[in-house]
Amino acid sequence: MKFLFISKNINLNKYSRILDILKEYGCNYSYQNSMELSSYEAFDFLVIDWECINLKTYKHHTPYIILINSETEIDTEFNDERCMGLVDLDSNLFALKSVFSLIIKSIICYNDGNCRKIVDFLKTLPTGVIIYDKKGKITELNSIAKEILSIDISEMNSESGVISDFQTIQEDGSKIEQQDFPVMQVVRNKRSSLNRIIGISHGRLFFKWIKIDAVPFFDSNNEIQFIYSIIEDITQSRNTHLKLEMAIDNMDALVRQRTTALVSARALTLESLATLSEFRDNETGDHIRRTKFYFKLIVDKLRKRLKYSDEEIVQMWSSAPLHDIGKVAIPDNILLKNDSLTDEEYEIMKQHTIHGNKALVRISECKDDDSYLNFAKEITLFHHEKWDGSGYPYGISGDEIPISARIMALADVYDALRSDRPYKKGYDHEKVCRMIIEESGKHFEPILVEIFNSNNEEFDYIYNRSIEEKNLFGDF
Ligand SMILES: [Fe+2]
Ligand SMILES: [Fe+2]
Repeated sequence: MKFLFISKNINLNKYSRILDILKEYGCNYSYQNSMELSSYEAFDFLVIDWECINLKTYKHHTPYIILINSETEIDTEFNDERCMGLVDLDSNLFALKSVFSLIIKSIICYNDGNCRKIVDFLKTLPTGVIIYDKKGKITELNSIAKEILSIDISEMNSESGVISDFQTIQEDGSKIEQQDFPVMQVVRNKRSSLNRIIGISHGRLFFKWIKIDAVPFFDSNNEIQFIYSIIEDITQSRNTHLKLEMAIDNMDALVRQRTTALVSARALTLESLATLSEFRDNETGDHIRRTKFYFKLIVDKLRKRLKYSDEEIVQMWSSAPLHDIGKVAIPDNILLKNDSLTDEEYEIMKQHTIHGNKALVRISECKDDDSYLNFAKEITLFHHEKWDGSGYPYGISGDEIPISARIMALADVYDALRSDRPYKKGYDHEKVCRMIIEESGKHFEPILVEIFNSNNEEFDYIYNRSIEEKNLFGDF
């Protein structure tokens, strides 16, 4: 048999599956890139790509099928009796074979009414083939079908054509009654049945999942001559698929469980460390909580400029309370001193940045997944660095200072300036605003000062709210 492919872009890879089937069936094929060129009489069948179909120019009787892709939107109804159907190139091999069996039926019926010859030809096809008579009784099986069903024709009930002792079920496990078997639907409706998957068992001997369909062959009076069915054993692939689905479900549940546990463990670690920090510092826990809110406020306004995931952003502001954790290593006489520090004491005090970072590095060395501490490590080490390079411990400047530490610097200083300390009174919001704006490009990154300036009322609100709560509820 000779097939003509019509496609604008003749791409052998695109058609490789259908070409494989054509080769399998011993057919020849040619190509052309539009519908206008050829004399179609030389071909038994046309295979036309949806993109170049032009039925107005197609006046011949050669039957055709249309190739589509799964995303193709079909907006035309094909009532053309020459059209044998649509073949989705993405569909599975079994579906392609089924359509191809329709093509062959059509060609053979066009060319030859000899029933025996057709049946003999069909049985040679490299797939499981069952032939039924017009009442749906099995009359012949090819060797592949015998192998799939592990039966011989002699085992069948000669009256009904039903295989004795065979049970069949639907995919949902319900029993298939004999009248609902695909071949019986064909007998009743005189139409091809679609691919179906059924489970078939023979006592306790075996259970298989098979794909099956059935195609009627008609005589010139439009009466069914015989019915042809392709079967394929999909037990193995289906079982593998089911096992895979179960494994994926289990894995999902496990991952969800582990993630919840991990997130809780991380949050707990950060919280515990922050609490530790509060114990030793003469700054109150309120300072630690407020700086987290200021930090989050700045990060939210800066969100679009930051190349971090949502999860990383949460990790970033959750790490803010740890900024002074290194103060646990500073001696009491310096940390708790009610007066200004001497130069020597101040040098020791500056070391809290390095102590804090070292402590977190030690913690991460004991954990498999320590990435959530990365921001905390940056913040502890660099939160006293200044934009112009005049800060400590290293005197780095500008972009050399990680963004988390740049944000922390502003949040920390705003709150420190507002707060009463044993050695000074806190300043009011307006004065602190002026002081921060004055430090733009010096202590702080200008863009952060701009964000602060445009949202300064919210900083004031966070501070005042915290003081009100403290007056209402005391330290908590
Ligand atoms: Fe600090
Ligand atoms: Fe602080």
